[in-house]
Amino acid sequence: MKILNFGSCNLDYVYTLDHIVTPGETESTDRYDVFAGGKGLNQSIAAAKAGAEVWHAGCVGRDGDMLLKMLSDSNVDVSFLDTVDSPNGHAVIQVSRRGENSIFLYPGSNEMLTEEQIDRVISHFSAGDLLLVQNETNLVPEIVRKGRERGMKIVLNPSPYNEKIETIDFRCLSYLILNEVEGKAISGSDDPSECLAFLRNKYPDLTVVLTLGTQGCLLGDGEEKLFHPAYEVKAVDTTAAGDTFTGYFLASVADGLPRVEALRRASCASALAVSRMGAAPSIPYKEEVLQALLELKPILHRADPAEETRRLIRSYLEEHLKDASLQGLAERLGYSAAYTGNLVKLRCGMPFSALLRQSRCSRCAKLLVETDRSVEDIIDSVGYKNESFFRKAFRERYGLSPRAYRKQMRGES
Ligand code: RIB
Repeated sequence: MKILNFGSCNLDYVYTLDHIVTPGETESTDRYDVFAGGKGLNQSIAAAKAGAEVWHAGCVGRDGDMLLKMLSDSNVDVSFLDTVDSPNGHAVIQVSRRGENSIFLYPGSNEMLTEEQIDRVISHFSAGDLLLVQNETNLVPEIVRKGRERGMKIVLNPSPYNEKIETIDFRCLSYLILNEVEGKAISGSDDPSECLAFLRNKYPDLTVVLTLGTQGCLLGDGEEKLFHPAYEVKAVDTTAAGDTFTGYFLASVADGLPRVEALRRASCASALAVSRMGAAPSIPYKEEVLQALLELKPILHRADPAEETRRLIRSYLEEHLKDASLQGLAERLGYSAAYTGNLVKLRCGMPFSALLRQSRCSRCAKLLVETDRSVEDIIDSVGYKNESFFRKAFRERYGLSPRAYRKQMRGES
């Protein structure tokens, strides 16, 4: 599977400082570097270094030779990269001693794409090939639409996020690869599970990959939800960490690797990029990633997704004990009812109906001991319509009738 990336190429002017300069402050630095960068270029290089066949399309300016060279030296095909009569796009980047960055962009040549160029380039690709875009060039909605018309699988990295993202037709997308900040801008929630559920409800055919920095990453679609932890490294410069992740993830998908392996390689490659200075030069080769996978330790402070799913199921049942339904839980989780039914069996070891019965019995048991409410009132409060059915379920679980259970637990004779 080929990868076509219509993306930016930037000259990155990088200044290393003690801390990111705040408004009104002046700081001087003794370290200044010029690196090849741009989200598009970084992602193409990452995918090519991961072993994929990559074509980079876009525009470089009169001063863009270094970027062309960097791409071809990394095995990226540049036959669709046009040179235009304009200054190249560039980024001014501050990097603090702690590895954080702050970036501003001058788009220059990156905003000189034409519809004619898009048509010409896309005509060289076929249905099923991957088409990757970010948000650092002009005409992104047109690229997405034209690529989709060609039958290509469209991958959007909505970065940097701004109002232009809202003009893209998300229904054309196969993959959305984004970070927490972009996830919040799109879904309105900074809770990763809620963000995934929002996107799944709105775009059921979309596979979403949400990166969470040192908290790892999540992949979610209609079929499954996967989590992979980040890897522990000393952060030197986080520039291009997300780009490295995106390129590695896509190259692994294009190579037919299981998605969990794609997340594993992408997480490791991005950790290595964080441990090195610069954008494109910090992106590791596949051999380095495979070696580092044997050495680096995953950061395991995040609850695993199975536990997270159980927590979401429990909290739904607690809130809706009286009117709980599989459909209601499915809506809360953002899956279909059929998938939710299987998920409950897998994560909780029993069908939804049995889990609901169990939860209602436990709530009744608690109320029997802690309150003086009548058994009938308690049964009604947890949503049992059929009293004899409840009494049977309760006896099966606790070996006693509700009344006998109350007496025994309270130590009454
Ligand atoms: O994602 C990192 C990139 O963002 C940098 O290389 C810089 O050019 C900006 O586009």
